Amino acid sequence: MLLEVFFILYLLQSQVLTSGSSSSSSETHESSQRDEQHSKGSSHQHHWGYHDQDGWLSSFEDCGGKSQSPININTGEVKYDPRLSLIKLEGYDLTDKSPLSLLNNGHTLQLSLPNSMRIVRGFDHIYVAAQLHFHWGTVEIPGSEHTIDNIHFPAEIHVVHYNSKYSNLSEAATKADGLAVLGGFIGIGLHENENYEKILSALTNISSEESYTEIPGFNVRHLLPNSLERFYRYKGSLTTPPCFQTVSWTLFNDTVRVSRRQLAALEDTLKTEHSKLLSKNFRAPQLLHGRKVLTSFHTVPSAGNARGVPLSETQDLNTKESSETQDALSKGDILAIVFGVLFAVTLLAFSVYTYQQRKKYTKFKRDSKQNVIYKPAVKEEA
Ligand SMILES: *[C@@H]1O[C@H](CO)[C@@H](O)[C@H](O)[C@H]1NC(C)=O
Ligand SMILES: *[C@@H]1O[C@H](CO)[C@@H](O)[C@H](O)[C@H]1NC(C)=O
Ligand SMILES: [Zn+2]
Repeated sequence: MLLEVFFILYLLQSQVLTSGSSSSSSETHESSQRDEQHSKGSSHQHHWGYHDQDGWLSSFEDCGGKSQSPININTGEVKYDPRLSLIKLEGYDLTDKSPLSLLNNGHTLQLSLPNSMRIVRGFDHIYVAAQLHFHWGTVEIPGSEHTIDNIHFPAEIHVVHYNSKYSNLSEAATKADGLAVLGGFIGIGLHENENYEKILSALTNISSEESYTEIPGFNVRHLLPNSLERFYRYKGSLTTPPCFQTVSWTLFNDTVRVSRRQLAALEDTLKTEHSKLLSKNFRAPQLLHGRKVLTSFHTVPSAGNARGVPLSETQDLNTKESSETQDALSKGDILAIVFGVLFAVTLLAFSVYTYQQRKKYTKFKRDSKQNVIYKPAVKEEA
């Protein structure tokens, strides 16, 4: 009886989850990248663009290397490494007394960061923050650079740090242990993200290419996911020319949420050259060439429900279809409650039954004791 309830519960949950998440999978970003116009044939050093990614290596040979970024992370092929130490950040909690410069450089939206911001634990050296920036798509095309099991998130944040043993970012960028980038996936949530609003509210001031503005400082830590404990680590590169292969990548398993409106602001406001919309600024996933992706956490084997995703983490599959996912989830929640109650009732019934059986048994024992009271004690102990 109990087993049955569990089994039905399990079946229904996995069905709901499958139908909820299937819509968010299998985005076809390849085709959309190909259909971008090939307007400029120029391979001028400063005029690379996302419409001609294969052309990058003709001007920047590292872009054709064997340790390029971004990559797809196949969660079935990552390797747990207990030696990875947790990331500890320092100086991220800026106040409005330290203004920051926010730039539309034609390729991305970039926030300059003071060198008081650092990663003080997690690597063999201290890494100093230099800038953070974003990658995004359009309303139809989710634009994270890294993918998880071939699924793009709507957007991705990169916080770029350089090894403190070098004097600045440009020097460190050419050194093997030069850079550490923290990456976070950005999905859609139901609520406005007030931390992201500190940046997004200034976008209209810098809609034209190569323009910048100043915004008050704020706690930059809040742009990253709540939990920094679960992360992926691999050796890769800058995802833009000159594609130097000097980046130790850290991608967090926990994700960030912004509202649909906030994501739309990021996708629809900034302009690049010739006043074209600055969007789809993500590079296609690169080949691993034998590289291993390490994790600071145990991944769940792909048993259980269809996606191998534990119930508590289904909200991470937060793409454009999030409202559908959330509807499915609330259906799942209701089912969970219904079966929770069923389970409780069954348990109660079972307890009552057991109690009564025991009472009967005790009574029987008592009765039988009374019956055998005249028998020798030896028999009783057998
Ligand atoms: C970075 O440091 C190097 C080496 O100290 C120096 O030659 C270079 O001018 C610096 N670059 C910038 C942009 O400060
Ligand atoms: C987080 O980890 C879980 C368990 O491995 C996985 O199913 C999920 O896709 C991951 N999400 C991200 C954004 O890495
Ligand atoms: Zn980036």
